[in-house]
Amino acid sequence: MTDLLLLPGDGIGPEVTAQVRRVAEALTPDLQIEERLFGGISFDTHGLPLTEDTLAAAKASRAVLMGAVGGPQWASAPRDKRPEAGLLNLRSGMEVFANLRPALCFQPLADASSLKRELVEGLDLMIVRELTGGVYFGQPRFIEDLPGGGRRAVDTQVYTTAEIERVARVAFELARGRRNKVHSAEKSNVMETGLLWREVVTDLHRRDYADVELEHILADNAAMQIVKNPKQFDVMVTDNLFGDILSDAAAQLTGSLGMLPSAALGLAGKPGLYEPIHGSAPDIAGQNLANPLAAILSFEMALRWSLDNAAAADHLLASVIKALDGGARTRDLGGQLTTVQMGDAVLAAL
Ligand code: IPM
Ligand code: MG
Repeated sequence: MTDLLLLPGDGIGPEVTAQVRRVAEALTPDLQIEERLFGGISFDTHGLPLTEDTLAAAKASRAVLMGAVGGPQWASAPRDKRPEAGLLNLRSGMEVFANLRPALCFQPLADASSLKRELVEGLDLMIVRELTGGVYFGQPRFIEDLPGGGRRAVDTQVYTTAEIERVARVAFELARGRRNKVHSAEKSNVMETGLLWREVVTDLHRRDYADVELEHILADNAAMQIVKNPKQFDVMVTDNLFGDILSDAAAQLTGSLGMLPSAALGLAGKPGLYEPIHGSAPDIAGQNLANPLAAILSFEMALRWSLDNAAAADHLLASVIKALDGGARTRDLGGQLTTVQMGDAVLAAL
């Protein structure tokens, strides 16, 4: 059985996952690693961004680590064959409904944030984004021509009790191991899905998690509070679209999108999907400039959540911090190191 399936993908994906491979080979030499094409490169080679074979391999592995997908060269590919469609199919095919997106401010990087040091120093916020439902997957969705000219586009936001409850459960469980506080963000003031979201979370809280502090917050206010006073948050649970947006905002608090990993988890015992939250960064792809730490830290999450090796995860996290403490900085962090040199720095710290 493959332990770790690597899907380097497009843009900077292959460069950053190459560093994960080096780290994995040094830290956990017994790990069985396999690699497959995914995203635009898979479309170019196989005509599909995610082949059935690759999805089957993903489901049969213990953890999947993806680099990044997409780029301008696939902008005119048919919509259902774009690299991003491959990613959505991978998430739903693996049924990884809970996306953990930590925004952690690493001490040595507190000055790299666009917010003042005192607002972000020590920040440790976990966004739990619902990942396999909502407007990303709701039907119907289409663009149609209108008789009198012009067109009409429809997306559908849809959530069921079960979908809300299972992701909220993940958030409450996580909070218990942290600072015991959950914010649930939605737009119950204008959306039916928001109203149901609030009711289901309230009900679950009363039934099973009354010991955890729960606060409901409207998603627009959550965006403002994240940039105003981010340290008030511990765990924030929200839907797929709000989670996409709020997690980018939270990421910037930490100084660079190049630092942040994520874990997408499904039911217990099923493989998790690990991805840096940065994109494929076509502007710097192939130049050995990308920061590999988000990918390396995604591997750290994989060790912890899917590969049953918290000791190796702790060691890796400490090594990344040590490398940063020693001044290792790629360009996004205001430094000069290349992708490979940042990999070297982590390996040296290991
Ligand atoms: C993310 C990305 C993806 C998303 C894109 C690439 C489909 O923005 O993981 O946050 O919208 O989910
Ligand atoms: Mg996003």
